[in-house]
Amino acid sequence: MGIIFNEKSGEFHLFNNEISYIMKILRNGQMGQLYFGKKVPVKETYDYLVENRYRPVTAYVYENEYSFTLEHLRQEYPAYGTTDFRMPAVEIAQKNGSTITNFTYVSHKIYPGKPKLSGLPATYTEDDSEADTLEILLCDKLLNVEMTLLYTIFQNENAIARSVRFKNNSEEKYQLTTAMSMSIDLPDDEYEWVQFSGAWGRERYVKDRKLQMGIQSVGSTRGASGHFHNPFVILKRPNADEFQGEAMGFSLVYSGNFLAQAEVDTYHVTRMMMGIHPMGFSWRLGTGDTFQTPEAVMVYSCEGMNGMSQTFHRLYRTRLARGYWRDKERPVLVNNWEATYFNFDEDKLIEIAKTAKEDGIELFVLDDGWFSTRCGETSGLGDWWANTDRLPNGIKGLSERIEGLGMKFGLWFELEMVNKDSELYRSHPDWILQTPGRSASHGRKQYVLDFARKEVVDYIYEMVAKILRESKISYIKWDMNRNITECYSAAYGADQQGEIFHRYILGVYDLYERLTSEFPEILFESCASGGGRFDPGMLYYAPQAWCSDDSDAVERLKIQYGSSYAYPISSVGAHVSIAPNHQVARNTPMKMRGDVAYFGAFGYELDLSRLSEEERALVKEQVAFVKKYRKLLHTGSYYRLKSPFEGNITAWAVVSEDKKQAIVGYYKVLNDVNCEYRRLYLQGLDENLCYEVEADGKPEGSFFGSEMMNIGLVTTDASAGENHVGEDACGDFWSRIYVLTAKEA
Ligand code: DGJ
Repeated sequence: MGIIFNEKSGEFHLFNNEISYIMKILRNGQMGQLYFGKKVPVKETYDYLVENRYRPVTAYVYENEYSFTLEHLRQEYPAYGTTDFRMPAVEIAQKNGSTITNFTYVSHKIYPGKPKLSGLPATYTEDDSEADTLEILLCDKLLNVEMTLLYTIFQNENAIARSVRFKNNSEEKYQLTTAMSMSIDLPDDEYEWVQFSGAWGRERYVKDRKLQMGIQSVGSTRGASGHFHNPFVILKRPNADEFQGEAMGFSLVYSGNFLAQAEVDTYHVTRMMMGIHPMGFSWRLGTGDTFQTPEAVMVYSCEGMNGMSQTFHRLYRTRLARGYWRDKERPVLVNNWEATYFNFDEDKLIEIAKTAKEDGIELFVLDDGWFSTRCGETSGLGDWWANTDRLPNGIKGLSERIEGLGMKFGLWFELEMVNKDSELYRSHPDWILQTPGRSASHGRKQYVLDFARKEVVDYIYEMVAKILRESKISYIKWDMNRNITECYSAAYGADQQGEIFHRYILGVYDLYERLTSEFPEILFESCASGGGRFDPGMLYYAPQAWCSDDSDAVERLKIQYGSSYAYPISSVGAHVSIAPNHQVARNTPMKMRGDVAYFGAFGYELDLSRLSEEERALVKEQVAFVKKYRKLLHTGSYYRLKSPFEGNITAWAVVSEDKKQAIVGYYKVLNDVNCEYRRLYLQGLDENLCYEVEADGKPEGSFFGSEMMNIGLVTTDASAGENHVGEDACGDFWSRIYVLTAKEA
């Protein structure tokens, strides 16, 4: 691994054993992009990739020359208006009304390891030998503004982390109005664009299309990454699939407004960029002021999208998620939300917890409705003290009772919000985000606290820390249930209102940082009406996230499958809920609900005391299964095998690092009659090892890895398509779990 600078050619080559990334200082001092892809040899120069030819109807940089135009040079961090006419990565508004910039190379630094990004989540190294970093300092001499492009290449992952830092060294004041985290000009447009889009209850559905000339983008301007589009996009070659071919993933480590955009020009060059959405953004750069963009992570794979996902999984599980829980086995939990909604008292909670304990569940989570006057959606948010009518012993007493049962206790918060009917709002009505003279829109009768203000964050911190200090709390579900409207902070002047969306997120990160530092052993699970802020930024603080409010087994196939493109399954909060399901009223068997939820951070979201004896017995089995296999499930390599977006059958698998064990989940939504004799082609096994295969706990036979990967594992159920009833009968919503264990030689 290394980063090499060739003085003579002015070229930077970042490489590890698998990938190369090559840039060049162009003739005019700006940075040019030459290559990103599979590793190529380190050479003095790749100058032949710089386009230098005459073209009609364009503009040229140098007088009397018809060869140097930024319209046709592939750039690293482009600006608009100096012969490039595409969308820029950077734009700075100046006093005289100009937005033209010219950042040219000044110097660079190469060093081992990776720097922290102040106040922002980012990937990290544990040891400097894991990565090398390049910082390229550029300056716009007229403005006297510095811009530093940061690149970190990881030794063992085909990933490059990028971000950009600005510093104003002048006496002038500027407005930074566009500051992308990354931009790359790719030489052609032979790609398919894959995005992860949906809405509440159906987050991160896989949507793909061929790249077209012009601009295509996804983004968010809601103040959160959102349910609608995830800050993650793949560009894959049309011939690439899950297991072979080129795929590049672009992921933004950020939880606020974002833009992911590909602009294909009519010469087929693809400009891919990602960063804070320029709409509604501007940052005042006064004398000495700096701005650091969030981090973007680019992953290159020539082993298809599974290869790409596995890189993201390892990187995000072990070098983005942090802290005490990062590598620990996650507790099996039960959450009371769908069991009781707002309708509970202490005895009811204890009853659920007792039943859960009997079933082997380790953590009881008390959801919304435990505090102040909160007995419904309209009041109490912001007042984080226990409602002693419902909980006479307070949170302290309840948590002690739960611990007394031999379980851990977890608690729900929605720290960024306030109801008008609350002590907090009555004392500080100016603490919400609202535009002077305009009405403030609500969502769920709640308003967004102005987390751009430190005093607001401080106040909330003290209130919540008090409960955490005095009670036995092992887990926090941090919810966030509305987006930001009329964004405006009373604490900032007119020239800083464009900063508020970002400052808000910095406030959220600050609160997370303080709470995770003071209470390092608390497991945080992030949540935003389900998966409304399911992004890498959150993973830095909370190693797991409630990925959707829709926990129907069939719906979850798509949601969890889509989430798996960027996110490790250890991060995907996945619970078994009641049937008929509360979102889609579907009746799936408990077995399928469990079989789907195994491939996530597992738990229950129902009143266990209302289940039948048979169901309770199954719950016990499920909990035992998770306890036995959760380490493998969360640390093994995850393979998508059959897509729920393409048919009736979904399959995925996890294979242990040493390839000696694997767990396969196989799901059929609707039964079919007289169907083919089906096989599932497994992946990632050791071809020479012979595995004992159990299907739903029963021996299925023993097969070599090469057999199951090439011939396939026969998955047809004995009863499929026959008029067959009995234990093996399969019907709608049918699933099976295969456990593969290598036989000792
Ligand atoms: C939305 C979350 O996604 C649910 O799980 C639940 O916590 C509710 N909020 C509570 O208000």
